[in-house]
Amino acid sequence: MSGPVILPRVIRTRAELSAALETAPRPVGLVPTMGALHEGHASLIRRARADNRTAIVTIFVNPRQFNEVADFDKYPRDEEMDLRTCGSAGADLVFVPGVDEIYPPGFQTSVRVGTLAEPLEGVARPGHFDGVTTVVAILLGLVRADRAYFGQKDAQQLLILRRMAADLGIGTEIAACPIVRAPDGLALSSRNARLGPEQRAAAPILRVALTAARARYGAGERNGEVLRRVMRDTLATEPLASPEYVSCADTATLLELDHVSGAALLSMAVRFGDVRLIDNDLLP
Ligand code: PAJ
Repeated sequence: MSGPVILPRVIRTRAELSAALETAPRPVGLVPTMGALHEGHASLIRRARADNRTAIVTIFVNPRQFNEVADFDKYPRDEEMDLRTCGSAGADLVFVPGVDEIYPPGFQTSVRVGTLAEPLEGVARPGHFDGVTTVVAILLGLVRADRAYFGQKDAQQLLILRRMAADLGIGTEIAACPIVRAPDGLALSSRNARLGPEQRAAAPILRVALTAARARYGAGERNGEVLRRVMRDTLATEPLASPEYVSCADTATLLELDHVSGAALLSMAVRFGDVRLIDNDLLP
């Protein structure tokens, strides 16, 4: 049995945050989240804890990055559970701001990254990444962390945030953390809880498709269209899966590759009923 979890200190305003930061030992590591924390988030927090003297988690369900109000409204919220997860993963401070703390009255700024935000997730979710870059720019500005941790699970988000930090001269190092998966290969996501039992049983097909493409790559295949077809054909074996996109793209531009010569990002979005799942793998 593990001992009682020490709950981290909770901060709710910009003012309290800046006061707490004055005495926080550096380096400071930041883990931005929207709550509904699972083992994937916990792995980021543990990494922030291991690399830094202060680990700060933010929990903010960001209205600007949702395409539909209904989606925002039904996003799972359980602060008490989340604080336990933060505590057991080693967070020192958890910033849980209200909407007005992040977007004060009169707020009118947005941060927009260009063509990287257009393909893949950008097609299905117009404006989504503008919401992400705007809120992360604010969080990085408020916390002025030495390092911020993001999951490879959202590969396009990570790439866009790296671009933003470089373009704006934001001094925080953007660190990438590996995808945490369930034992059957399904990447952990707060959305997995919305899958019905049959959909849940079918959902590891994303990972199976990525693995099939990686195997073909390992056998020497370098044609991007063939690798995409391997993934599409694998997904087609699962009747509950409706693929939205399947991609084999350049890791710097996210443009589709005809020929894989260096690194490549294999990625996909697949619907199971009204639950939309994403997954990816980096070649080589
Ligand atoms: P959220 O979906 O809560 O994810 C927070 C962080 O956890 C992201 O960096 C995401 O990539 C990472 N993560 C989620 N599932 C993971 C998994 N299975 N393995 C590893 N990491 C995983 O992403 C967001 O929130 C928001 O867009 C945010 C960046 C907080 C801005 O609002």
